[in-house]
Amino acid sequence: MAKRPPGIVVVANRLPVQRIRSARGAGWGPSPGGLVTAMAPVLRDRGGVWVGWSGTAGPAPRPFTHDGIRIHAVPLSQSEVESYYLGFSNRTIWPLYHDAIRTPSFHRAWWKQYVEMNLRFARAAARAAGRGDTVWVHDYQLQLVPRILRGLRPDLRIGFFMHIPFPPDELFAWLPWRREIIEGLLGADVVGFQIHSDAQDFSRSARMYTPAEGTDTRLRHKGRTIRVGSFPISVDFKSYDDLAADPHVVRHAMEIRRRVGASRKILLCIDRLDYTKGIDTRLLAFEEMLRRRKVRVEDCVLIQIAVPSRESVTEYREIRTQVEQIVGRINGEYSEPGGVAVHYFRRSLIRPEVVAYYAAADVMMVTPLRDGMNLVAKEYVASRRNNSGVLVLSEFAGAASELRRALLVNPRDIDGMVRTMETALRMPPDEARFRMATLRSAVRRHDLTYWADNFLEALGA
Ligand code: G6P
Repeated sequence: MAKRPPGIVVVANRLPVQRIRSARGAGWGPSPGGLVTAMAPVLRDRGGVWVGWSGTAGPAPRPFTHDGIRIHAVPLSQSEVESYYLGFSNRTIWPLYHDAIRTPSFHRAWWKQYVEMNLRFARAAARAAGRGDTVWVHDYQLQLVPRILRGLRPDLRIGFFMHIPFPPDELFAWLPWRREIIEGLLGADVVGFQIHSDAQDFSRSARMYTPAEGTDTRLRHKGRTIRVGSFPISVDFKSYDDLAADPHVVRHAMEIRRRVGASRKILLCIDRLDYTKGIDTRLLAFEEMLRRRKVRVEDCVLIQIAVPSRESVTEYREIRTQVEQIVGRINGEYSEPGGVAVHYFRRSLIRPEVVAYYAAADVMMVTPLRDGMNLVAKEYVASRRNNSGVLVLSEFAGAASELRRALLVNPRDIDGMVRTMETALRMPPDEARFRMATLRSAVRRHDLTYWADNFLEALGA
């Protein structure tokens, strides 16, 4: 009998499918997000499995196949969602790993549940994987899975990829469970990060808090070698490029321009409504531009699309209130009949709608205070077929390491933000075209498939 190639199991907090309700009843549909786009072809080819949570509390369905991928759902009760997902993942790790922009909370009860849930995900992965398979674990919610899984299934190849930043030691040191987290990650054969400095910070902490020895890219621990490296995630370039040429999308983009006033320049911002994204500071910079008459509402409009996220976490409710107050104040002061200064939409959009906005925008503002990568920046670039449009990008987004021809800014420097927005709005078309063409070839070359192939190759899968 021919030997089958090793299968691939993805383990992530979220499944690639979500529950949908339609006229025909309830079922499963694809969930938005890039990861599934990258992984789907590989998983389909190799009889892949995806282990994750459906996003709703309660019992999980039995394993099923969706679009060629085996789905193994991990159940979480309401109280597990509260302590593992909303608590430890999103109120301890998330703020700590994003420069402690909000003060992280440390609770032993949350940690206990985080350990329990990581155990549950690891057991589910151990059940789903065939002999000698490759298991690819994703992100900060599951940092203990590699070690647990190795204990359960020493025959597996295990990779871990962190989608968010890894903090410098001064911050990581705060974590009462820092050694356990590092030991958890060191259970993998390859530990991947978005950018080089994240990988360096991890290796430094690993040497500091565990007996691991070695360089920034290769650690020895418990008789094993662990490869550490950067694997910058990307977008499915072709699908954005194709969508931007789709007649419906082109029509929608023209309609957006017509509705806000065809002669006005559009500054576009699309973010999850998260305090790491710098939505408030960016709006303050725009307000300052209007106040100092650097722009007039007749000539320019800011469109902010804010995608609701983690709404039962206090800090997320607070940032929403702050953003909405600033939008209200700017519009109260500067809007005119037929000329609203800030268009604010709190909703998620489907991909063709997003691309229509990208196609309509003269300037895209991506100015997080800290971000692992930020795929919005790369999506915008991939959607600008005719090489027009200007990208303003925070120095604190992982994407800034690759997208050097964007206009890079420090989002906390209001004067710098004002200057950069002015530069973006007045950029001569030739310079904009040159910059965008360079950005596009970078994203085209290093697209999502390149990222997944590179990681799996490092893993020897
Ligand atoms: C970030 C994280 C992902 C997470 C996503 C949405 O991109 O890196 O792991 O899935 O945010 O957040 P949510 O809490 O809704 O899963």
